Amino acid sequence: MTHNPLIIALDFESAAEARALVDRLGDSAGFYKVGMELYAAAGMQFVRELLDRGKDVFLDMKFYDIGETVRRAVAQVARTGVRFLTVHGSGPVMRAAVEGRAAGPLKLLAVTVLTSFDEEDLRDLGYPCAVSDLVALRVRKAMQSGIDGLVASPLEAAQIRALAGPEAILVTPGVRSAGAGRGDQKRVATPAEAMRAGASYLVIGRQVTRAADPPAEVARILAEIAG
Ligand code: C5P
Repeated sequence: MTHNPLIIALDFESAAEARALVDRLGDSAGFYKVGMELYAAAGMQFVRELLDRGKDVFLDMKFYDIGETVRRAVAQVARTGVRFLTVHGSGPVMRAAVEGRAAGPLKLLAVTVLTSFDEEDLRDLGYPCAVSDLVALRVRKAMQSGIDGLVASPLEAAQIRALAGPEAILVTPGVRSAGAGRGDQKRVATPAEAMRAGASYLVIGRQVTRAADPPAEVARILAEIAG
């Protein structure tokens, strides 16, 4: 393995809980995802704390707004040192995000179609097409817009890798070791399967955050991937 592909999802309701996990993991994890819940509770102050501790941060905000607002918000994030940021995979949003990021080190990831959406939800939105067709269209648009990568279910990662090309960053949540609790995730793959399907990074939440021994769980997942 050339790099540690694990991003630990800090899905906690307070900075104190998130900090306790980061302390517990120590050097066994270097990349953390801050999503809407923790952001709403602890904001950029906690993101800065992670960055000050030398951690990489994936800010999972899934921006979606008018171009000017997205451009300005992405420019703010780009200044902080955050490494990955998500935006929705609609053309104008992605183009505005690329403008806002300018030449900084921030990498933009597009969310194509939320994995909780099915064909009926798409029809409700006025898109009369199959989920996989909309995913494919948005992957192509993301690459044309200058987006760096995509969030992909591990079950779609191979298809998305083929469309997006070898340079795209593919980040896959919905990953569980065999035998680990699935929580509310329905469509999961093991870490090794997700990597084989073309993932660049795996987002792992509860399997690590709710483990009795989180560092041991990280070591087990890394060994599983290496094996
Ligand atoms: O605990 P678990 O490993 O299921 O956490 C997965 C993380 O990835 C959560 O933060 C969740 O919001 C996020 N995610 C997901 N499925 C998606 C997109 C994001 O599970 N399609």
